[in-house]
Amino acid sequence: MTTTARAHTNIALIKYWGKRDEKLILPYTSSVSLTLDDFYTDTTVQFDPHLMADQFTLNGRPQSPDKISAFLDIVRAQAHSAQFAHVASVNHVPTAAGLASSASAYAALALAASREAGLQLAPRDLSRLARRGSGSASRSVFGGLAIWHRGDSDLTSFAEALPETKLPLRMVVVMVDAGQKKVSSRRLMANTVATSPYYPAWVKDNERAAGDMVKALAAADFTRIGELTEQSSARMHAAIFASDPAFTYFQPATLTVWHAVQTLRAQGVPAYATMDAGPNVKILTLAPAVAAVKAALPEFKDRLLVAGPGRAAKVLEEA
Ligand code: DP6
Repeated sequence: MTTTARAHTNIALIKYWGKRDEKLILPYTSSVSLTLDDFYTDTTVQFDPHLMADQFTLNGRPQSPDKISAFLDIVRAQAHSAQFAHVASVNHVPTAAGLASSASAYAALALAASREAGLQLAPRDLSRLARRGSGSASRSVFGGLAIWHRGDSDLTSFAEALPETKLPLRMVVVMVDAGQKKVSSRRLMANTVATSPYYPAWVKDNERAAGDMVKALAAADFTRIGELTEQSSARMHAAIFASDPAFTYFQPATLTVWHAVQTLRAQGVPAYATMDAGPNVKILTLAPAVAAVKAALPEFKDRLLVAGPGRAAKVLEEA
């Protein structure tokens, strides 16, 4: 038997940055995200009694199975199985977008592997499982808007869907630097927690912001949603900048985009910037404003992608 599952990537409006338990991936704060259409990972899993080790291919190329083996061990323990697996993942994310995130990867793997192992996990338990691969993956189990409750244990730290919004939310992804070698967000996150004097302040503020975001989304108050989105990202990057050694993902072109967003807002266009563990900027806006946002970034004309809300993770095929 084989099982194939698809999960979409997500962009955090209220960020997750920092773990209080590295092994279980328990975060210091709750986070809120928008799952995106168009960017997704398809993963096929087949457990095989004849295999002596897990095998993993990404976009058709063999990879070291170490990371996914550690994840599959969790699935094997839950399913009381000792079989190794063939795992084949295909990323449907423009590689240059810097969105080839672990979120869609581990959400798809969690769904395909658990189903293939005979487990029928409830969404909450699937989210907890995906979380063990990568924190942000806990949110990619769900479509549209999701909140990852920080919780205080493996059982209570999971994501769930938030009510759908009537707002036509869009993310304009601006590829500032496609070629930049990625600085491991996992290591940098741990270093921010350990060394940034601003980190405790960020945690306090970001947890408050997660609650405020849920209210702003329920009220369909786009201005508030945008302000909270931009603040969570800016404050996260400020805490990162204040780490030892000091570090920033910002590049000159990143600031060009930030300034363009501020100018857009001064002109009455609803647009707010957010950034993750890289120099690319994602602009949160509304569908009717996408054309104005694009027009404000002529020098990035060929490096813009527009995404809307995407669907929940799902099984594509069980054969
Ligand atoms: C900046 O989920 O990739 O994108 O749990 O260590 O795998 P690990 O980290 P990951 O971190 C995502 C950080 C972020 C913000 C976010 O998505 O909330």
